[in-house]
Amino acid sequence: MAASSSGHDLPRVVRRGEFVYPPGLRFNLPFYRFRRFFDPKNPILLFEHLQRYGRAAHYRILLHDVVLLNDPADIAEVLIDKAAFFGKDRTQKRMKILLGEGMITSDGETHHRGRRIAAPAFHRRRIERYAAQIVEIADGLRIQWQPGAELNIAAEMMRLALQITARTLFDTEVTPEIHEINDQVNVVMDLYNFLVGMPRAELFLNSPLPQMRRFRAAKKRLDEVVDRMIRARQAEANLDRHADLLSMLVAARDDQAGGDGLKLDAQQIRDQVLTLFLAGFETVANALAWTWMLLGQNPEAEARLHEELDAVLGGRLPTLEDVPRLEYLGRVLSESMRLYPPAWAMGREVLEDVSIGPYRLRKRTMVFFSQYIVHRDPKWFPEPEQFRPERFTATAKSGRPRFAYFPFGGGGRQCIGESFAWMEAVLTLATLAQRWRVELVPGQKIELQPKITLRPKNGIRVRVMQRD
Ligand code: HEM
Repeated sequence: MAASSSGHDLPRVVRRGEFVYPPGLRFNLPFYRFRRFFDPKNPILLFEHLQRYGRAAHYRILLHDVVLLNDPADIAEVLIDKAAFFGKDRTQKRMKILLGEGMITSDGETHHRGRRIAAPAFHRRRIERYAAQIVEIADGLRIQWQPGAELNIAAEMMRLALQITARTLFDTEVTPEIHEINDQVNVVMDLYNFLVGMPRAELFLNSPLPQMRRFRAAKKRLDEVVDRMIRARQAEANLDRHADLLSMLVAARDDQAGGDGLKLDAQQIRDQVLTLFLAGFETVANALAWTWMLLGQNPEAEARLHEELDAVLGGRLPTLEDVPRLEYLGRVLSESMRLYPPAWAMGREVLEDVSIGPYRLRKRTMVFFSQYIVHRDPKWFPEPEQFRPERFTATAKSGRPRFAYFPFGGGGRQCIGESFAWMEAVLTLATLAQRWRVELVPGQKIELQPKITLRPKNGIRVRVMQRD
């Protein structure tokens, strides 16, 4: 028996035949009881509730075993040492109704193939070319802001990140049609927890439920916009002119090691484009929005950031070479993604019975781990609610296990866009924060909205102030 943080003695493990599970909610909960713990509007509450069981927790819902892992060593086993025993979990698979067989939702050979084909677009040398475009776009916004203007910085960052993704990865002009992607994604995000929380959501897809009607309309519009982008590119004689991800997907022949030499068909290109578009702009936009909020709340960190920007840039626009030099900015971003990880949870499904730490899990068990929960574990981050960029000095980092902090996941399915996202976030913030600071509009309640990404529910209202 081990003492739990709640003071009750809880069993360390629960044996069920040959299987060994962590303790947790006691029995196969009927759905209506489960709803007491599970608020579809904020699934983080369930994970927080389960944290009282310590290293890991277990419950059963609709005859499925679900395990939440909170220990970095156990997470490493799932993502790295025993990755072959795991596939994407059912909730992520349910996202197929939106993203088809794109890189995030597919498994096995389909996933490998997608990743092999897109990988060259994310090689370091290639993404370096995007740096100047990113700064140009951020500078465009920098000259638009008016001193003292009140705006929703979350919406502002969505538009900016969308524009950057469209221009760099898809070499597409930001027409009103592209902006519509943002609107349609908002519709889909509103419905997301409803869709993934509903078993067999795909069976309801064609039902007249108003939610499903809205989803169908949004998905149709997204597909139309993406299809038009793809067709326009396919019609071009000289694809190399663009040297972007879109040309790479359109022209790709899977003839690298292990490839089948075939091209992607229209549906496959569309699934990958939509996946990369959504994964690429939502996440970065949220990271930027939360960072602005934290800077607004922490004037000392903000002052230190300004000092660094002045010392390193001396008033000029940032370049790729400045990214590693802006060390404090890097720490601010890392700390921001610790407190508000844009990807706030990940899941896998056990494909073959497997042992993880002291547990033995049966096939089909769903395993979750949450960046939001682990990043706030006081064992790794004392006084976790506090914003402290110094937690990310090299020395501080070396004292923590690899999976105490994993905003980009890990192992073979680690985020393919990590370096791109990092460069984009650093250059954007450096460009804007050089001239502007934000003051949070008083009296607003900033709430979490955990959907596919962790969004601020009603945005974040700020007043932009010109730096002296
Ligand atoms: C701050 C920004 C970002 C964060 C926090 C983030 C986070 C993550 C995480 C946690 C995963 C792993 C999911 C899992 O294993 O279940 C992931 C995968 C992925 N990310 Fe990102 N991401 C970001 C930016 C981007 C960007 C900019 C792109 C592309 C333009 C991108 C494309 C992808 C793709 C395609 C995958 C699936 C990779 C695979 O399964 O092989 N992400 N991301």
